[in-house]
This record gives sequence, C-alpha cells and structure tokens, in this order.
Amino acid sequence: MLSPKLLDALNKQINEEYYSSYLYRSMVAYMEDKNLDGCAHWMRMQADEEHMHALKIFDYVLERGGRVELQAVATPDRDWDSPLKAFEAALAHEKFMTENITKLADLALEERDHATNNVMQWYVSEQVEEEANVDDIVNKLRMVGDSGPGMFMMDRELKSRPAPAPIAEA
Ligand code: FEO
Repeated sequence: MLSPKLLDALNKQINEEYYSSYLYRSMVAYMEDKNLDGCAHWMRMQADEEHMHALKIFDYVLERGGRVELQAVATPDRDWDSPLKAFEAALAHEKFMTENITKLADLALEERDHATNNVMQWYVSEQVEEEANVDDIVNKLRMVGDSGPGMFMMDRELKSRPAPAPIAEA
C-alpha cells in the first residue's frame, strides 16, 4: 500500500509528465509553424515519450492499489524567440523534471517504500538520457547560429529520431 504522502506525490508527478507531453506538443505546433519538419518530428516523439512516462506511473499506482486522481494540465507556452530558445526551454524543463524525480525517489526512501524507489530509479536514468539528448541539440543549434544551411542540416538530422519504445518495454 502506498503511503498517502507518496500517493499524493505520484499523482502530482503524473500531472507533471502530462504537462511535459503538452509542452512538447505545443513545441510541435511552433516548429510546424516555422516549417521545421525535423524539429517538429523530434518534439512529436518527445511528446509521445512524456505521455508514456505519465502512463507508467499511472499504471504503477494502480498496480499498488492506489487511486489515480488526474488533475488539470497547465497551459504551456506557445511561442519562443527561435528554435534554439525552444530547445533551451526544453532543457530547463528537463532539469526541473529531474529535480521532481529526485525528490520523489528521496520521499520513497523516507517512507521506506523500496518498490517506488525502484520505479523512480528508472526515471532517474531516463532523465540523464533526456538531459543529455536535449543538451546535445542545444549545443549544436548554438554552433549553427544564424546559418540557414546549418539549420537545414540540423532539421534533417532531427527528423531521424525513432519512435519511443512501447510502455511495456520502457
Ligand atoms: Fe518525463 Fe522528460 O520528463
């Protein structure tokens, strides 16, 4: 049985993951508006992945006999000054998410809930990967600067991002 404190924190994290998905979906719309198909594709894959992050906790709470309580999802930003600024916002968001996961893992240990801590360790590793991926894109976009051909190449590279693994394999 999940402790009430942990159940509440997990429900909040489900909401944060849904918000992440919503934020990246908003970035899809922004990139499409700029005719950056590759960037839009990358954001679409990321939005799908965040949706799966939400579902993984959702299913875990149910598995532990907890009550999932979905909450309103906040309105994400819709505009950024440039694709680079959007990816910088994505990186800042992932750092925020890492902090949330760290707090949840700490709370699970405080509550002596090793099963939840174990699930959170999956997210800890996932966050390392997510931050590294976005950081790499931010660095490349900074190198590209105002170069049109550079942006064209970068957009083409981002189009090759594969779809996220299904939840059962996650
Ligand atoms: Fe699910 Fe990118 O945090």
